[in-house]
Amino acid sequence: MKKIAVLTSGGDSQGMNSAIRAVVRTGLSNGFEMFGVRKGFKGLMNNDFIKLGSKEVSDILYRGGTFLQSARSEAFKTPEGQAKAIEHLKNKGIDYVVVIGGDGSYRGAQALQRQGIKTYGLPGTIDNDIPLTDYTIGFDTTLNVVTDAIGNLRDTMSSHERVSVIEAMGRNCGDIALQAGIASGVDAIIIPEVKADINKIAADLKAGFERGKSHSMVIVAEGAGKAEDIAKEIKTLSGLDTRPTVLGHIQRGGTPSVFDRVFTSRMGHEVIDLIKQDIVGVALGIESNKITYHTFDEIFATENKINDHLYQVFQDLI
Ligand code: F6P
Repeated sequence: MKKIAVLTSGGDSQGMNSAIRAVVRTGLSNGFEMFGVRKGFKGLMNNDFIKLGSKEVSDILYRGGTFLQSARSEAFKTPEGQAKAIEHLKNKGIDYVVVIGGDGSYRGAQALQRQGIKTYGLPGTIDNDIPLTDYTIGFDTTLNVVTDAIGNLRDTMSSHERVSVIEAMGRNCGDIALQAGIASGVDAIIIPEVKADINKIAADLKAGFERGKSHSMVIVAEGAGKAEDIAKEIKTLSGLDTRPTVLGHIQRGGTPSVFDRVFTSRMGHEVIDLIKQDIVGVALGIESNKITYHTFDEIFATENKINDHLYQVFQDLI
């Protein structure tokens, strides 16, 4: 009987629970023995396994976070750390490991794969910064959280005729800022992939107020700058009253959206199918609404790019 372990690693994201549930329940339906590893690769090194039955994954589909918990582990990057993890897997007779996490977690998964463990990746990060998938797990929920927050800020900015400068997460990727910005009809989007002309932004915002606008909203991706600095700069250049807001970890919580729940259910189902076919060393994604997979090597060889068309859509709508 195949024995499969699942773990979540790196920054958590909404929909990880749904992905775990789908992997576990589909595995069980196929007669496999399923295990969870607590606290990501750290748990793998510390032999922190739990046996998972159907009941253990009930009531988690609609919960944010990850009930297996997550961690970022420096020790797992060392050959000694990896050797320990492999020893525990071998002792338990576990041949397959499903890693739900982002770029760093995929590196860990690839290291295991190279040492003979059959490994799979599911793209768990709010950042949407993994190549060869249109969406990562939690990205859609985060967009909804950010869009709601921008709506709240707009109310108070209007009452005081202010400019709101909102900092979104995303590491070096501007996708959260770009798509939440489009969904919120903001006045400017500042992302690492496109050089911002702050003088033009300030002049445009000023002109907007002169035309009678009561508020302006600017979203900045954390990889492109700090809300506080940009708010100060806009105030200096335009004389407008500005307020910075860093959304922070609030973006990583909340009940996963329907999209995140459905697509993670599909991916969890598919990964068991790949295990049955003995297709190994791959990470799954969703491309044009199809669940797809690529080797870790292919993913690392592909550059993650901003969607230029979406950026153009934003430009044409302001
Ligand atoms: O990768 C997810 C992410 O939320 C990034 O957007 C952010 O830069 C980082 O993690 C924050 O990390 P931590 O939760 O360790 O502070």
